[in-house]
This record gives sequence, structure tokens and C-alpha cells, in this order.
Amino acid sequence: NEIYFAGLTGRVPTMPMAYAELEARAAQALPPSVLSYVAGGAGDEATQRGNVESFGDWGLVPRMFVGAKERDLSVDLFGLKLPSPLFLAPVGVIGICAQDGHGDLATARAAAKTGVPMVASTLTADPMEQVAPEFGDTPGFFQLYTPTDRDLAASLVQRAEAAGFKGIVVTLDTWVTGWRPRDLSTSNFPQLRGHCLANYFTDPVFRKLLGKAPEEDLLAAVGLWAQLFGSPLTWDDLPWLRSLTKLPLIVKGIQHPDDARRVIDGGVDGIYCSNHGGRQANGGLPALACLPGVAEAAGDVPVLFDSGVRSGADVIKALALGATAVGVGRPYAWGLALDGANGVVHVLRTLLAEADLIMAVDGYPTLADLTPDTLRKLR
Ligand code: FNR
Repeated sequence: NEIYFAGLTGRVPTMPMAYAELEARAAQALPPSVLSYVAGGAGDEATQRGNVESFGDWGLVPRMFVGAKERDLSVDLFGLKLPSPLFLAPVGVIGICAQDGHGDLATARAAAKTGVPMVASTLTADPMEQVAPEFGDTPGFFQLYTPTDRDLAASLVQRAEAAGFKGIVVTLDTWVTGWRPRDLSTSNFPQLRGHCLANYFTDPVFRKLLGKAPEEDLLAAVGLWAQLFGSPLTWDDLPWLRSLTKLPLIVKGIQHPDDARRVIDGGVDGIYCSNHGGRQANGGLPALACLPGVAEAAGDVPVLFDSGVRSGADVIKALALGATAVGVGRPYAWGLALDGANGVVHVLRTLLAEADLIMAVDGYPTLADLTPDTLRKLR
């Protein structure tokens, strides 16, 4: 209504209202290497495209005479009362999407303004102790890429607890970097690394392992990071992961119902169904196709979902297929590129406004009304 009514007085929004325009304008605003890093995915990006296209497999059936004048999009997640089911997925190196290089801080400020929680990546330009205070009253989560050194892993988690994060998201699908032709052909990684290692460079365990200050010998510090970065976890490591924190523990990258059941048996508090936005392995199913099975296996355990969400309609469909909360990755990176924290706020508000209007028009006033029965499969 805010925008429609402003239009009556001749005021036209300067930020894009449609996703395609958002993406196109961000593509013009970003340096080519940053653009290819954010936009790119694994292989020929078929899985990445499938993530987006799979939302077209489903349609919501409208109901009339509901009078859904008031809608309630609030959600309870790990005992946290959130105003909406949306969250900001962890996007490493996002710092460089903002013109000042501090995109993590800008995203955290957008979280504070909207009440939409940010999952801050391990790979941030600013250390987590500086990101967390920007959340204001909005809860934040810390995403852990588990390093091979267990003391370093424990240190990162302890710092997140001390900084006030409300949950730990462990990403399971990225202990190696996937085959990403856009990054491989531009040799992007060396350039990007320097912008995302603040959490390591400020870590006491990392500094001890390095034996000197990272600033003194950047090459050695980056080398040590590369050596420590990814740990191929197995089921035997789950008890250790669980023991790292008393905060809610969420595991990211789950796509098989058996894996969902097994991590729940291992004591995790949340399942995060995602294929990393199609960045890690090509040739996979769209994440949305995995969601119903994972949600069923999860039972009462909250299911976070991301990969391919581009609109309010997509948010609604993911909720109806069993997600408790729905994340976006690339869309907010584009917002950040166009207008910093305000750009992220714009992206989140447009997604939520569209979701809210669909619930109004289609007669589904609460999130509990969105069940698999409200959808029909088209193909
Ligand atoms: C990511 N993603 C990601 N995930 C994670 O757990 N830690 C990370 O550091 C990153 N880094 C990252 C960088 C970039 C540029 C992108 C686009 C994505 C994956 C992210 O959390 C999420 O799963 C996907 O972005 C969701 O897909 P969409 O919304 O981008 O389609």
C-alpha cells in the first residue's frame, strides 16, 4: 500500500520491484569478478537453475470467503519469536558486495531494521564480534565452516556464543569448493580470500598456530587458512559437533530424509535443507524437491530451507512444503550491491510484502494454514 499510494502522488520507487530487474541492475553495479563469484554455481549451473525453476512445479489453490484481513507471518524458531519466517542465508565474502567493503555489517544492520535474522558466515570481512552488535534486537546465527583443527573450531563457536549469537549453523557440504567454472576461469579465489578471513585472523587459536600476527605475514596466514579450512566430517564426528555448544545446533546441506532422521537422533536442534544455491555440486535435485521428504522426516524439528527463493510466492510454497523458515542468498547480495543496508531492507520487505499479499488474496491468514494440501503439483 505504501508504494501504491505513493504512486498516486506521482512518486515512483527508485529500487527495482521485480527480481529480474534487481539482478540486472546489481550485475551492472558490481565489478565483474565479484559478480561472477556471487552469480555463479557448479558445472553448467543446471542445478542452480533447477532450484529457481522448481518453484514453478507447484501452485497455491486460493480459497474464498476467508476474509484474511489480518495476516500473521510470525514464527517461533528455537524459542525465538520472529516477526516473519524469512532469514538471511550465510553468504561468505559478502563484504565486498557493499561499496565500502563492509557488507557483513550492512547486512546485520538490515537484520536489525527488519527483524529478519542473519546467519553470518565464517567468511566475513569483519570479525563476528563486530557483526553481532549490529543485529540490534534481532537474533543472529553463526555459520561454521568446520576447520580441521578442533581447537580452532571450538574457539570460533565459543566466540560466537560470547558475541551473543543465538544458534550455530554447521555447513556440511562445503569442506571442498565445488567445480565452479566461473570462478575457475577468472581465478577468482585468491582475490576474494583477503576479504573474508577476519574471523580467522582475529582468532587466538589461529594466531597461535600461525606463530605470528597475520598482518606481519599475510601470505603465510592465508596459506594456513587454506590448509585448515575444510574438514570432511563423518557420522563419527556428530557427537563432537553436538558437544561444541549448548546453543541450538543446525546442520546445513541436508537433502536426504535418512540424513535428517540420523542427525536428529544425534541431537541436532534444526535441519537446514539446502543445496548451497547450486554452488557445490551440479547434477543434483532442486532443493525444493528434497524439502517434502526432509520435512516429513524432521517431524517436529524445525526445518530451515534455502536455494532458489526469488519471490514472495516462492516463500509461501516453501512454507507449504514444510519449511519452518525460508532463507535467501543471492537476492540480498544484489540489494547490498545497489544500496547497502537499505538495499537489503528493500529486498526483504518486497519479499515479505508479496508473501503477505498472497496470503491475503488466496485466503491463508496464518502460516499454519499453509500445508502441502494448499498446493497442487503442476508437472
Ligand atoms: C553462499 N552460501 C554459503 N553458505 C554457507 O553455509 N556459508 C557460506 O559462507 C556461503 N557462502 C556463499 C557465498 C555466495 C556468494 C552465495 C551465493 C552463497 C550458500 C547460501 O547460504 C545459500 O545456501 C544459497 O545462497 C541459497 O541459494 P540462493 O538463494 O542464492 O539461490
